[in-house]
Amino acid sequence: SMESDKCWQECMDVAVQIARRAGQMVREAVKQEKRVSTKSTPADLVTEADRQVEEVIISTLRERFPSHRFIGEESSAAGEKCILTDSPTWIIDPIDGTCNFVHSFPMVAVSIGFAVRKELEFGVIYHCFEETLYTARKGHGAFCNGLRLQVSKEKDVSKALILTEIGAKRDPKTLKIFSGNIEKFLSAPTHGLRIIGSSTLSLCYIATGAANAYYQYGLHCWDIAAAAVIIREAGGVVIDTSGPLDLMSRRVIAAGTQEIASFIVQQLEPISYERDDHDVGAQSL
Ligand code: IPD
Ligand code: CA
Ligand code: CA
Ligand code: CA
Repeated sequence: SMESDKCWQECMDVAVQIARRAGQMVREAVKQEKRVSTKSTPADLVTEADRQVEEVIISTLRERFPSHRFIGEESSAAGEKCILTDSPTWIIDPIDGTCNFVHSFPMVAVSIGFAVRKELEFGVIYHCFEETLYTARKGHGAFCNGLRLQVSKEKDVSKALILTEIGAKRDPKTLKIFSGNIEKFLSAPTHGLRIIGSSTLSLCYIATGAANAYYQYGLHCWDIAAAAVIIREAGGVVIDTSGPLDLMSRRVIAAGTQEIASFIVQQLEPISYERDDHDVGAQSL
């Protein structure tokens, strides 16, 4: 309706302001000494800044929109349930690319997605060091610093640049599957493969046409929510390895064209991960 249309636009304007403010916090924090600890594995890093930025984003939004729900990476790590209901829900990654942040490798973003009735309405991603802002609203196009985005129309895989991410799981079985996948893409042949250390920015580069496809296993809903809207509104394809995108499934394939997406699907080994909303059943008991 017109009413909700106006309402989601207002939410998106607030998201843009907060993303910029969060980006500023990241630019300041990267110069300070970082307090780094680990979560699920020695490669799964978290810093004080991750928690502080998420706290600022969520408390600001909650004050403004008290009836909304929130999913955030560090709140989930602290035990909050990760459930997508029909209520307006903000899905937040305060610092995407924490390992990059720790090393001052300049590929770090703030990602804010927004869903209503489980459908993504808009996404905002802010590249903290480049100060580029990616935005999209369902039905209204995707933009980078106000310029309209369009995915690459390339259909030929042999001319494709492919992006992926390794994730923090480094056990021998996972590594074997990951390296097997990489080997397939390098022998396919393609133009090449890149790993930049930020899933949200990798997805933004599909939206701009700078790369042709991106795939990853083991990522979370806050890595995909905002970017999925941006890619779709730029004319691209975002799917799961086994069908339509399922935000909670921990798998994603994004591509400029259906042809390239289908090629990636054929290559990938199917791996199952524990879902982001795995504890929903237990909670509703
Ligand atoms: C991670 C980064 C990384 C990807 C991981 C993500 P974080 O996000 O996007 O590139 O490989 O799967 O979890 O932890 O830095 O927000
Ligand atoms: Ca993390
Ligand atoms: Ca992330
Ligand atoms: Ca993060």
